[in-house]
Amino acid sequence: AIERTLSIIKPNAVAKDAIGAILGRFEAAGLRIVAARMMHLSREQASAFYAVHQERPFFGELVDFMTSGPVMVQVLEGEGAIAKNREIMGATNPAEAAPGTIRADFADSFTENAAHGSDAPETAAEEIAFFFPEGVCERTR
Ligand code: CMP
Repeated sequence: AIERTLSIIKPNAVAKDAIGAILGRFEAAGLRIVAARMMHLSREQASAFYAVHQERPFFGELVDFMTSGPVMVQVLEGEGAIAKNREIMGATNPAEAAPGTIRADFADSFTENAAHGSDAPETAAEEIAFFFPEGVCERTR
């Protein structure tokens, strides 16, 4: 099915000037950009976005990192977009990310893992609404 997923290019990858390279990988894999926004997250925004992790030991480090510089946030649309995006990103732990994946190529650590992608249809819908309450663009061609 055609799905939408939320993708974030994290501050370390933005700092490496890898936005274009990463977006190019999505487009080359058939994931179309239907919304995009570059922004510097506040602590409130980062904490709210990652609220599900707030009891985890890495939460403070995660919020520090995600607010350390600008991020590029986009909605990707395509056949099986959620799983396809996760495949292109590679494993969350970059030490386990397959060669040629975004995390293998641009991550610096478990926390500084270059990219985020929604993990399921329900979280994708929530995460898209969090960043793009106004909706996304229709792409007919
Ligand atoms: P992300 O896909 O954005 O979702 C939650 C993030 O928390 C994850 O990527 C990592 O950046 C970070 N994270 C998850 N598990 C750990 C961990 N064990 N140690 C450090 N950071 C983690």
